[in-house]
Amino acid sequence: MSTNTVDNARKVTTMRLREMKQRGEKIAMLTAYDYSMARLVDEAGIDVILVGDSASNVMIGNPTTLPITLDQMIYHARCVVNGCSRALVVCDMPFGSYQGNSKEALASAIRIMKESGAEAVKMEGGAEIRESIERILCAGIPVMGHLGLTPQSINKFGTYAVRARQEAEARKLIEDARMLDEIGCFGLVLEKVPAELAARVAAEVSIPVIGIGAGAGVDGQVLVLQDMLGITKGFSPKFLRRYADLGTAINKAIGAYVEDVKNVAFPSPEEQY
Ligand code: KIV
Repeated sequence: MSTNTVDNARKVTTMRLREMKQRGEKIAMLTAYDYSMARLVDEAGIDVILVGDSASNVMIGNPTTLPITLDQMIYHARCVVNGCSRALVVCDMPFGSYQGNSKEALASAIRIMKESGAEAVKMEGGAEIRESIERILCAGIPVMGHLGLTPQSINKFGTYAVRARQEAEARKLIEDARMLDEIGCFGLVLEKVPAELAARVAAEVSIPVIGIGAGAGVDGQVLVLQDMLGITKGFSPKFLRRYADLGTAINKAIGAYVEDVKNVAFPSPEEQY
């Protein structure tokens, strides 16, 4: 067995992600929200599974990530953990579960870890939530940062457009990224920022930077599973590559089933007891 095969079977940890960055090995991350999909994603060799609060959109059908609750995130994370043996499972802290104060933030993070079995949490924001991140880190809970486009703040910004195009915002993003690195976050998601800025951040910080709409110069990539599998409808940002058209395939399969049932072509004699 080659060293690579041994490595590929090994459980992914936060420490291993750091080693991957040091080796220049790119990190592949996807979202998942349920047992069956998490099992497929894990078996396919993904490094990190994010139980994203995008579950609010793709699992519940809400227009934003804001309504999803801590209980709902814990439920989705528990399902994913049950289907996963190799990938590191990171669970998003939902809107309202950490912005109040650091005590509340820690209580929410502890609930996620205890009740779901996830191995880390992700939080949107920089300096504004530093105290909460530090308190969670002090409790031994790994934290992944999330800067750039932060969908939980959609009502503040009013748009899902590319962030940090202006000098002042880019400067704050770099400062926030440095701070997240210094206080001990194990990784950072950069969403929808110019590729040049993202590459600069990835070169400056010691922790892995995972991009979504942040170009190729970062340490890894993340996409929402339903988007890259072609299940989501009416969402096609420039950064999104569709690796399958499962929406059409599922539609066709279900259409064929409906037709067979109506025509009594299913079940056949061989499919009966
Ligand atoms: O919730 C989510 O899916 C995310 C990714 C887009 C990074 O935060």
